[in-house]
Amino acid sequence: MRVVVTRRVPEPALELLRAADGVELRVSPHDRALEPAELHGTIAGADAVVTMLHDRVDDAFLDAAGGALRVVANVAVGYDNIDVPACARRSVTVTNTPGVLTDATADLAIALILMTTRRLAEGERLLRSQAPWSWSMSFMLGTGLQGKRLGIVGLGQIGTATARRARAFGMEVVYSGRRRAPEPLEAELAATYVAFDELLATSDVVSLHCPLSADTRHLVGADRLRQMKPTAHLVNTTRGPVVDEAALAEALASGVIAGAGLDVFEREPEVHPALIPLDNVVLIPHLGSATIETRTAMAVLAARNALAVVSGRPPLTPVAP
Ligand code: GLV
Ligand code: GLV
Repeated sequence: MRVVVTRRVPEPALELLRAADGVELRVSPHDRALEPAELHGTIAGADAVVTMLHDRVDDAFLDAAGGALRVVANVAVGYDNIDVPACARRSVTVTNTPGVLTDATADLAIALILMTTRRLAEGERLLRSQAPWSWSMSFMLGTGLQGKRLGIVGLGQIGTATARRARAFGMEVVYSGRRRAPEPLEAELAATYVAFDELLATSDVVSLHCPLSADTRHLVGADRLRQMKPTAHLVNTTRGPVVDEAALAEALASGVIAGAGLDVFEREPEVHPALIPLDNVVLIPHLGSATIETRTAMAVLAARNALAVVSGRPPLTPVAP
């Protein structure tokens, strides 16, 4: 059985694949995203492909892999890079890596909330510029989180973990989404289910945790930003296209909202040029799951998913077709 890994992953995952009976492992020799033609050449004849979030899995990919392909194991919780119905039509199982990156991503959401509300990146830039500064009662004031309202858009695993952390900072939690959370979870978080309009209009920090889909593409655009409080901050740790970046840059530049923290971008690795000069936006290069422990756990889970399917066992964490 041929298992192809499209980009170098942590060694424990490769060891697992190498040690598996009857597996011929192929790992891309490049530590970079493959161009579509290279990707298609690399996966030819594969029974399983371990993919990264920048690999586009579409009909061309499936054609290139050929009829032996049984599973695409994405090393990410998000799978907007994969045409899941196209995979289902060819009986190719899709898996992702939920759970193992929840804490790392929630930690990063909190880091962005602190960075944007306390102006930490701006302060860091100031010192590195070697501009003169001195402590004063009014120097670089941010806003506190205590008693403020956090609006979680999508109370899934990462949204929940972010809400738990925010409670420890003394924030009040509201959330929106397709469905209401179970009552014990609402009780634990003292969280209130509200309409998206109300969440936008009343939250001091809006944190996005919904997956990218046709329904959530540009969920936050110019009109939605205008619904937010002028003192509010927007944090995005999910996928860039959930936010209309040009509209956000405009809103930040004109004071429609106070600040933003972004870990993801519409056209990664590109960052919208209008965001670059703005002091009230924190820009982080997609580091949500970027800890040694988490990346190892993600890659191992993807490897286990691939091995399960090629050996006829049910996958651990399948994506519903
Ligand atoms: C990372 O962005 C992921 O979806 O796991
Ligand atoms: C601030 O540094 C203080 O001592 O209050």
